[in-house]
Parts: sequence; structure tokens; C-alpha cells
Amino acid sequence: MVQFMNCQIEVWMTQNKYLHRCKRFLMKCRREVYGARRFIPGLSERHKMEKMVGPLGFWDQLQQYQLNVLKRHGMQSYHSLLDIGCGPLQGGVAFIRYLDRGNYTGVDIDPEKLEVAYLQVQRNSLAHKNPLLIQSGSFGEDELGKKTFDFIWVSQMMYYLDESMLTTLLKFGRRCLHDNGLFLCDIVGPKHYECSTNEHGWYVYTLESFSQIAEKCGLSVTDEGEIEKYGYPSRLSLKTNHLQSLQKN
Ligand SMILES: C[S@@+](CC[C@H](N)C(=O)[O-])C[C@H]1O[C@@H](n2cnc3c(N)ncnc32)[C@H](O)[C@@H]1O
Repeated sequence: MVQFMNCQIEVWMTQNKYLHRCKRFLMKCRREVYGARRFIPGLSERHKMEKMVGPLGFWDQLQQYQLNVLKRHGMQSYHSLLDIGCGPLQGGVAFIRYLDRGNYTGVDIDPEKLEVAYLQVQRNSLAHKNPLLIQSGSFGEDELGKKTFDFIWVSQMMYYLDESMLTTLLKFGRRCLHDNGLFLCDIVGPKHYECSTNEHGWYVYTLESFSQIAEKCGLSVTDEGEIEKYGYPSRLSLKTNHLQSLQKN
């Protein structure tokens, strides 16, 4: 009986791996088809921006998802927001539009993405909102001095950080968060294939290990569940990422 069950589990696992590979292959084909947009006038710029942040063809939904997260956690137009790893402003454009003048700060390590971010501010006629965009290799710590924020947002970036970098980011986050401010971010959830295959070589933290690291940095963590419930597209595998909200303890 035990032998039969073991055998069934092995068959199921092999089928599962096969299905996963098929799915990844189809996703790759989809990316190739989308890639053709770079040759189409009027779509090439959008393609360039989407390629900088990840899944192609979901820009508007991902932008709305980011705004949903912040608004559902109480962000009002008069609050200040620090968007770390802001990229070409996928969420940033919606945040700048929503927030009062001078209340948005975006930080990214990559100057090319910030160049596109500046263009986005221009194209969306948002210069009057005076957003601050910073290129920084220290999450903004060296540039921002003693500035503090009501909200900090780190979207789809935690898995690029090893434990030492994550600790640096969380300590900095704690320092520049208002006393009753909120630090929101997402981490890879336990259901994601990266947890079993480590296909992308990401740094995957469990809910427990992430919480322990944050505690050591003086932040307490609440797990807010999968990001799909905030409008993250259900067709994307990262929908199972978990939103984490952190506060000073
Ligand atoms: C997947 S993109 C997400 C962009 C944006 N947060 C969003 O959700 O639309 C990850 C971003 O994090 C940035 N990034 C990666 N490592 C970083 C670091 N150490 N400091 C600042 N930004 C970083 C990348 O340049 C990239 O723009």
C-alpha cells in the first residue's frame, strides 16, 4: 500500500513538473509575441517600460493594484510616500496623481529606469506635483538625510535582496518612518513555484523568517495575505505573493 502511494506521489510530481514546464514555455511564447510591440510606433515606449518591471501587458492593472494597496491601508492625499525600487513609475504615476504636491519620493538603483521615470512625469503632466526621484545605492539613506514618511512602499523588490541588504533596508525603513507610519511590501508566498524550484535564483523568505528579520530591526509584521485580493492580476503567478505591513514596535 505504502509502495503504491509513493509511486502515485512520484507520478503526480513528475506530471506537475511537466505541467509547470509547459506553462513556463507558453509564458515565454507570450513574451515573444508581446516583444513584437517594440517595432510598432506608439507601442514601443510602453513596451520598454513594461519590460523594465516584469510581466508584459499588465501595466494599468499593476498600477491600479499598487494604488489599491496604499489606499486600503489609509493613505490620504496629504500623506507622504517613499516608493523604494520605484522603477519607471508603474505605481508612481498613480501615486503622484493622487498625492498632494511634494508628497511623493521615488528611489531606484538603476539610472536607466529613473530616466524613463522622469519622462513619465513629463508625459503625464505631473511636474507641478514636484515628485522627488532619487538614484541611490543605499535605498535613499545617503540622500534623504533625516526626512521621514507616513508610508513606505516596496513592491516586487524584496526577492532581489539577500539577508544583509534586507536588514539594511528594514533598518533604514524604520528610521525614516513616522512613529505611526506604515511600511508595506510584498514577499514571495509559499504557494509560488520559486519556493520549490528556485528558477530565478531569488532570495525567498518564509513568512516566519521575514518576520524574524524585521523584528530584529525593530519592526513588527502583520501578514495581510495574498496580493490578488488587492487587484493583482490573477493570470500572473506572483498573485500569491504576500503583502506584509510593518510598524515600529
Ligand atoms: C520588478 S521592479 C518593480 C518596480 C516597481 N516597484 C513596481 O512594482 O512597479 C524592481 C525594481 O527594483 C529596483 N531595485 C532592485 N534592487 C534595488 C536596490 N538595491 N535599491 C533600489 N532599487 C532596486 C530595480 O531597479 C527595479 O526598478
